Amino acid sequence: MQIRVLTLFPELFDGFWANGMIKRAVAVGRLSPETINIRSFATDRHQVTDDRPYGGGAGMVMKPEPLAAAIRQARSDLKRASGSEAADSTAIFMSPQGRLLNQDLARQLAGQDNLIFVCGRYEGVDERVIASDIDLELSIGEYVLTGGEVAAMVVIDAVTRLLPGVLGNADSTQVESFSDHRLENAHYTRPREFEGVAAPEVLLSGNHQAIDDWRRESALVRTLLKRPDLLRRQGLTTTEKAILRRWRREWDHLD
Ligand code: ADE
Repeated sequence: MQIRVLTLFPELFDGFWANGMIKRAVAVGRLSPETINIRSFATDRHQVTDDRPYGGGAGMVMKPEPLAAAIRQARSDLKRASGSEAADSTAIFMSPQGRLLNQDLARQLAGQDNLIFVCGRYEGVDERVIASDIDLELSIGEYVLTGGEVAAMVVIDAVTRLLPGVLGNADSTQVESFSDHRLENAHYTRPREFEGVAAPEVLLSGNHQAIDDWRRESALVRTLLKRPDLLRRQGLTTTEKAILRRWRREWDHLD
């Protein structure tokens, strides 16, 4: 996957590309990221990228010309790099007004060949660029950040780990939280006992069927306790209903 990030603060991404899973994705040839400074598309002597808002008011607005030029250049570079006229890219504007990111959307984005992230600063971006050049407005949550850069990193992280061959264990994105509208099961490692609390005996039993059953049950009960809305949205299977009925019986015996 080719990723271009358009930002006024390209240095913010230097450490991001150079570490951990992103670095591995680049090393195995799954990800080819590039940061582009929007300022280099400003045509005036002082390379100005912002201006006062029409109508007055606080703050500055990102000017349309440098941003539109940067997006269009990124699109045409990506088209050329992929060697196909049909290979279009998705231009994503990071904004608290956008569609909320979730795991399903991350999976959809992971299926794209080319993503362009547009990171705004100041009070906002001239609306005409959003209308003419942006395919998707995307939010990472209902709060306001000072710019789109950290939000873009969140999306890139969530998407990159879904690219084939990036995580060591191919199973790990299948059983993780949200993959089937359930949270992931609890995890334990050595020591067997930590501060008086033992790891569940079944996980040390070597009985794979029993371990699988325990994990499914752990995932279900954690979802019930932490995110019951996920169960309401998706409904319960017959096995899950049986598990929860048993839990309720045990619960009832507590008092
Ligand atoms: N830019 C500022 N706040 C944001 C948010 N919550 N999500 C995405 N981009 C943003």
